[in-house]
Order: sequence, then C-alpha cells, then structure tokens
Amino acid sequence: MSNPIYQRLADNLDDQIRQGIYTNGEKLPSVRKLAQQQSVSVSTVLMSYNLLEDRDLIEVRPKSGYYVKTPLKQSFEAPQLKHGSVTPKLVSTSQLVMDVMQTSSMAGAISFGAASPAADFPIIQQLKKSFGQLVRSTPFLGQGYCTHKGDEQLRRMLAQRAADGHVSVTADDIIIASGCQGAIGLCLKALCKPGDIVAVESPCYYGLLQLVESLSLKVIEIPSDPKTGMSIDALQLALEQWPIKTVLGVPNFNNPLGAQMPETAKKALVELINQYQISFIEDDIYGELGYTHQRPRAVKSYDTQDRVLLCSSASKMLEPQLGLGWIMPGRYMQEVEYQRFLSASNQFCLPQMAVAEVLNRSSFDRHLRLARDTYRGRRDHFFKLISEHFPSDVRLSSPQGGYVAWLQLPAGLNATELYFEAKDHGIIVAPGEIFSSNANKFKSSIRLCYSKAWTPAREEAIALLGSLVQAKINHKD
Ligand SMILES: Cc1ncc(COP(=O)(O)O)c(C=O)c1O
Repeated sequence: MSNPIYQRLADNLDDQIRQGIYTNGEKLPSVRKLAQQQSVSVSTVLMSYNLLEDRDLIEVRPKSGYYVKTPLKQSFEAPQLKHGSVTPKLVSTSQLVMDVMQTSSMAGAISFGAASPAADFPIIQQLKKSFGQLVRSTPFLGQGYCTHKGDEQLRRMLAQRAADGHVSVTADDIIIASGCQGAIGLCLKALCKPGDIVAVESPCYYGLLQLVESLSLKVIEIPSDPKTGMSIDALQLALEQWPIKTVLGVPNFNNPLGAQMPETAKKALVELINQYQISFIEDDIYGELGYTHQRPRAVKSYDTQDRVLLCSSASKMLEPQLGLGWIMPGRYMQEVEYQRFLSASNQFCLPQMAVAEVLNRSSFDRHLRLARDTYRGRRDHFFKLISEHFPSDVRLSSPQGGYVAWLQLPAGLNATELYFEAKDHGIIVAPGEIFSSNANKFKSSIRLCYSKAWTPAREEAIALLGSLVQAKINHKD
C-alpha cells in the first residue's frame, strides 16, 4: 500500500528543505497556492504542513504563513580535484579500523560506529522460522557441494528483484558470494593485478579501502559530494591522467555520506566507462533502503556494454550474519566465476535457501516499506538531537536512504581524539580518518550510524558527544 498523498507531499518538501532548496527562515508556498500547484485539497496541504511541524522542520507564524526552521546547516561542499592534485597511493589503513570494529560490538557500549541494521523488525522472526522449517524438511547436509554459482532459487529471486532497479538479468547471470565485501573482492581479483589503480569515492567506506589494500592495489580518491556522490568531472580528469583499471563506487545512499547519485550522473558514468573501456564495480548494498519508496535505478540499468559488475548483499536490508552477497558481473562472468571457485566453492547452502524463502514472500516488500519508514524517522530524530546538542557550526550530510550520516566538525578539531574520548565514556563513533588513504584528509569528521531505535540512553549519548565536541572547541579557543 502506498503512502497517503499528504505524507508524500510532506516527504517531498522535507527532502527539498534538507537539500537546501528551501533555506532556513524562508517562507513556504501558501496553503492555497500549494494546493493548486499540486492539484490536491487545502486540507491535504494542511496535513502535510502539520507533519512537517511535527518533524520540527517548519513553524507557523500567525497571520503570515509557514516558514522553514532548520537550526543546523546541513550541507557542505565537496573538495574539487585539480590536474596533478592527487596521485595514486598504496592504501595504508591503520589499526584504528580494527579498533572501531572491535569496540562497536563491545558489551555495554552505545555504538553509532558500525553500520549495522536495526534488529527490531518482524522479518527477523520470519527468517528464523524459515531456517527452522528448512532444517526439519530439507536435506541440506550430505548433498555435496552447493551449485557452483550458489542456490538456484535464491538467484531466481534476486533476478526478479533486480528488475525493481531496472536491471534485466536471469538467475544464470548471478553468482552468490560471501557478503558484499566478498563479492567486491572477487571482482577486484578478477579485474586487477597488484599495482593496478582503482578509483574510489572520497570519503570511501573503510572496508573497501582495506580490501584494496589487501590486494596491493593503488587507489585514486575521487571527491564525493554529500548530496550527489562521486564527481563525474573529477573522475573524468583522473581518467585523463592515470591508467585507471576499474572504478568502485556506491551510487545509491553511499557510506559514509548517504549521497544519492542523480540519474544523469549515472548515465554519464556509464559513458565514461565505455569511453575508456574499463569497468565499474557498483556496490548497491543500500539501494533498497531509499526513503521515498521508489527504488532508485542501479547504474547497471544504463549499462550498454555490460561493463558494470553489480554487487550487493543481504547485510543491510536483512541481516549481516547471513554473510550472503551476490554479483551480477556482466561481461566478466567467466573471470569472476573462476575467482569464486578459487575462494569459496564450498559455501553453506542453508542461509541461501532461507533467504530465497524470505525474498519470495510479500512480507519482504512489507519489511522494506517498514524499514524505509523506520530509518527515515530515526534519521529525523537524529537530526533533531544533533541540532539540539551539537555546536551550530557543525555540518551534517543529509542522507535520503540507508542509515549513516557524516558530520563535519569545525576545522582543526581532531575527530580521532574525540573518538578515543567518547570511547572512554562507552560511546562509539567512526572517526573520519579511516575513510581515506590519507589520514589527515577527514581528520575533523565522524560518521554516525542511526539505525537503532532511539532510547533515553542513546539520546543521552548524543548529548554527551555534543558536549565533548563543545569542550574541544572551547579548549582550542
Ligand atoms: C558500502 C558498503 N559496502 C560493503 C559493505 C560490506 O558488506 P557485507 O557485510 O555484506 O560484506 C558495507 C558494510 O558496511 C558497506 O557499507
């Protein structure tokens, strides 16, 4: 069932406010005018405005109208790439990544560190039930190896769901892998040899940087805009200067910015890839988690020469412990299939069968609708808390899907120190320096995950983080 009209109208306005189309203090269209523009009733518009008031995004001024009320400026500029300004580097990620990973699951910690999904969705019970039924009814052990590309039924389900992102594939075009990380690892191994250059977004999810490091590849970091993702102009400039072997990116609701690449940029990206006859490894792990309910297209849907390797997993939309990822490798099928054989021809079938069951049910569509609405609500509350408790010169990205956001602290403030100070209080964040091969690049930023339900303890943790930031600013002055 789709959302009521008033809610969709409110969501559109919400997006426009967060994207800075309506700025702080600006008057919104009058109720009558908006009703005319949108061909809806006056009462529908009033209900939308009421909802935006509840979200604390607008306020009504008696006898004047509705005004935007966004106390925190929620955008910042991406740095530009200039000719000769960056060179490919061997990645040198630090112990800090492992520290963040270990402490994120520390007992008693309040974690905004790891990008894990919420665990309070009914689909988890459904999944447990499917596991139970399969264990009782299906001879999954004693059957030898699972089919070499992975469970056929799961691949059929994935092919059906790919159509939502306008990707046309069959079960035969898909390979099951160990999580999205494993899927991308297979693609990198299939496409590159040590010393080759891979273009990545900047900031880039640290797991991908580590993966590149482990394969002795070099990265070139392409600036990412907090709203629109990887800069296509900067990528073009990099392609002109360097023999880039492949490009790796997260076009839909990326990690860590939550950026969403516009459709025109997706097309332009495919054109560049075709022009340079290289490939694009598309990490679409958050693609199903957009807040507008309309699943965005995958870059692969524009792929005219089969050069896009689409990777994803069940980790963000369902459950990370399943360790279940997949690849639609296009023209590179043979090479990726060989890498899959080398690395994991013996994957356990049961989780694949259970996920195939869950994806096959209309309850999964219901789950996605619930997850999208829930994460959107949690994001809104997160914004409110940051506005209340953080200094006003902090800049926040404005994710339209997924559940991570990027916080840029005032210049010069050391976010790695903040990470350790917060950790002493049992609060975990992800420090910006792990999102680049250059440890100084994002030294004043942090990434926060807001997927979990807000509890008084989590709210207090945000307030404490805000006071730690303020104390550091005071100390600096
Ligand atoms: C953008 C991105 N890609 C890949 C991964 C890894 O996914 P998986 O747990 O399925 O290996 C993550 C996990 O945080 C991620 O954010």
